[in-house]
Amino acid sequence: MDSTKSELDRIGVLTSGGDAPGMNAAIRAVVRSCVYYGVSPYGIYQGYEGLINNDIKKMDAGSVKHIIHQGGTILKSARSKDFMTDRGMEQAWENVKKQELDALVVIGGDGTFKGAMEFSDRYDFPIVGIPGTIDNDIFGTDFTVGFDTAVNTVVEAVDKIRDTATSHNRLFFIEVMGRDAGFIAVYSGIAAGAEEVLIPEKDRGIDRLFESLERTSQRKKSSRLVLVAEGDKNGSVYDLEDEVKERFGDRYETKVTILGHVQRGGRPSCADRVLASQLGVNSVEALINGRSNEMVGVRNRKVEFTNFERATKQNPQMDDELLRIADIISI
Ligand code: F6P
Repeated sequence: MDSTKSELDRIGVLTSGGDAPGMNAAIRAVVRSCVYYGVSPYGIYQGYEGLINNDIKKMDAGSVKHIIHQGGTILKSARSKDFMTDRGMEQAWENVKKQELDALVVIGGDGTFKGAMEFSDRYDFPIVGIPGTIDNDIFGTDFTVGFDTAVNTVVEAVDKIRDTATSHNRLFFIEVMGRDAGFIAVYSGIAAGAEEVLIPEKDRGIDRLFESLERTSQRKKSSRLVLVAEGDKNGSVYDLEDEVKERFGDRYETKVTILGHVQRGGRPSCADRVLASQLGVNSVEALINGRSNEMVGVRNRKVEFTNFERATKQNPQMDDELLRIADIISI
């Protein structure tokens, strides 16, 4: 084994915010890399809550056996409000000192990195982040851990809806997750052949949806699927259904499906496991090499670092090329 002893003795790892498939693979990579470099890994439970409550346990290579294929997170997750208070931060810092942690790897999204940035600045404490969220809404990486699995889950579900929609000549409005981002809707919309995709980044108005539905009638389509990102500005899937009824009367038999938290679970895809492993190893190596206050991502197949400030302030750009393709192939 070609590992060199690191100057860091103890690295803590936590998952925070909404869980995402592949988080376990990332935890595993962090823990195994620590062991490889002679650092003791510590698991922090329930995200930042675990730091505040001192819910921290020493891990070893065996603690992460047989988890690479499991959804969820063995460390559990939480959206900690207390951590954003002075009292919460101070308590967390006391426990970091008590456990003699030298650095942290945090796995999560936007909120996770904001908390990490604040903590790292306040106590001059090294933290590196791994983007883990199904939303793919983090600047500085082409994909976040969990996105690929989530879109595959959506595609599988939408394919099934297509079957029944076609049998009954129905129009479905299907809401997918993504918070303020439309990546899940666009990717799964293209892959499942949706007739229309509505996303917050490009509000093209309700008239465009009407035109698109008119076109499907002219082409005598037997089913229509409209994928709606939860953050879309035209209203909820129920509002859209009402608007279509108001405009077209009984012309379409409409149904609504909200896919919900099914999108967050399940066995991580190969792509998510590989990405999580790559980011996990690089996060530990980054800390050992003295990096801090940064997120590790992969862009154009290369590992890249983005400071937390930029990763949290800048939004990743929606790919106009994908929208163009979605428009052409849904005709
Ligand atoms: O950030 C992941 C996500 O699943 C979003 O897509 C969604 O808006 C949100 O979390 C739901 O959060 P919760 O599980 O706390 O309801």
